[in-house]
Amino acid sequence: MEQYIIKGGKALHGEVSIGGAKNAALGILSAAIMTDETVTVENLPDISDIKVMLQAIEEIGAKVDRINEHSVRINGSKIDSMSIDYEFIRKIRASYYLLGALLGKYKKAQVALPGGCNIGSRPIDQHIKGFEALGASVKIEHGMIQAEAKELKGTHIYLDIASVGATINIMMAACLADGVTIIENSAKEPHVVDVANFLNSMGASIKGAGTDVIRIKGVKSLSGSEYAIIPDQIEAGTFMFAAAATKGDVLIKNVIPKHLEAITAKLIEIGVSVEEYDDAVRVTASDRLGHTNIKTLPYPGFPTDMQPQMAATLVTSEGTSIVTETMFENRLKYVDELARMGASIKVEGNSAIIVGVSGLTGAIVSAPDLRAGAALVIAGLVAEGFTIVEQVEFIERGYEHFERKMQGLGATMAKIDIEDEKAVQKFKLKVS
Ligand code: EPZ
Repeated sequence: MEQYIIKGGKALHGEVSIGGAKNAALGILSAAIMTDETVTVENLPDISDIKVMLQAIEEIGAKVDRINEHSVRINGSKIDSMSIDYEFIRKIRASYYLLGALLGKYKKAQVALPGGCNIGSRPIDQHIKGFEALGASVKIEHGMIQAEAKELKGTHIYLDIASVGATINIMMAACLADGVTIIENSAKEPHVVDVANFLNSMGASIKGAGTDVIRIKGVKSLSGSEYAIIPDQIEAGTFMFAAAATKGDVLIKNVIPKHLEAITAKLIEIGVSVEEYDDAVRVTASDRLGHTNIKTLPYPGFPTDMQPQMAATLVTSEGTSIVTETMFENRLKYVDELARMGASIKVEGNSAIIVGVSGLTGAIVSAPDLRAGAALVIAGLVAEGFTIVEQVEFIERGYEHFERKMQGLGATMAKIDIEDEKAVQKFKLKVS
């Protein structure tokens, strides 16, 4: 079993290029089966979640040709099953996007009901509410969601919560419905806009994506397309915090600075310099960082997917900071791991109270989920001595070649099998 081993205490320097957005790609690959023509998707992140989604699509009969690690050709004309097994949902919740895609195209779909996950219970009542409003009957039996409709009819849907998943799923189903659908209080995240732009590139008629009212005029069918996915806002933010926490100087390339505004604002508030260019940001920090409070919110608020990385940056800052998680009820599990590295951090309700310390010390820590895992890597890069991060498979779900990209910035970090004592000694010798 592989882990990351990190020797901390070095400032990150240099350039890193950001890959395609995981949370856009998962929606776009699902939507790609909604046409019988061929679709080419480029700038895909080479991460495990994408591999699982492509397997799920292949499993129902779509033709999937991998052009290279970042591009794929998909043809959904030979789909012969409308049922997505638990095996896929268990690995990635986002395979529930195939519910909206199949229901929209075939007026019939069956997907295993996603359970909760490490960060929270994550109900899908808003998705179901939207499908029922469009005229589908939705049943949950034997752990499966069955959605079926003679026809889907455009309608007005008000989301009780600006859910990313529900907005994307309903948007897909409504694309091939009769008439106009209005989704009110829709999510505004960049990946929602990217999925809408992709659907429009296939001939859909979606207006208002990126605002809290999306208007979809149903069309008879969708056609083929070639589409490149937007850069990953959260991967970019993670490298921005790694640069700041290690007091480094890093140019983060292939980003859309507008998508990073909430992250940039908080970095500037704690004394980090962030220079914006057309498709890059330069993050430099030299002095001890300041403290601040954050509260996670839907876009354009501070993203919940950046919350653990922000905390990992604040544990060595000056003064007391409060990090409040409002989106998911179980997303502070990294706190005990940071405390093992000498951080002064505790949970009160849905907040982490952080009193900045002058330094961290390396330790063996375990990633409780994807973003918390990335935060522990940042803490390991700051800490004195060696840190071992276990459960890296969580991190590899959302970060392409994470350790290689960090090495490119001068980090002393490797992915090795910890049971392999020789490899551990060799690494420690090499870096001592
Ligand atoms: C997406 O999850 C992302 N996942 C998450 O990123 C991200 O944290 C989240 O949006 C918020 O930005 C993907 O895009 C694949 P939501 P999603 O529906 O769609 C509640 C990562 O690290 N809710 O916007 O599941 C829900 O419980 C992942 O990359 C309902 O109550 O998030 C939560 O409290 C982790 N009923 C809130 O809404 C519903 O039907 C926001 O969830 C749907 C959601």
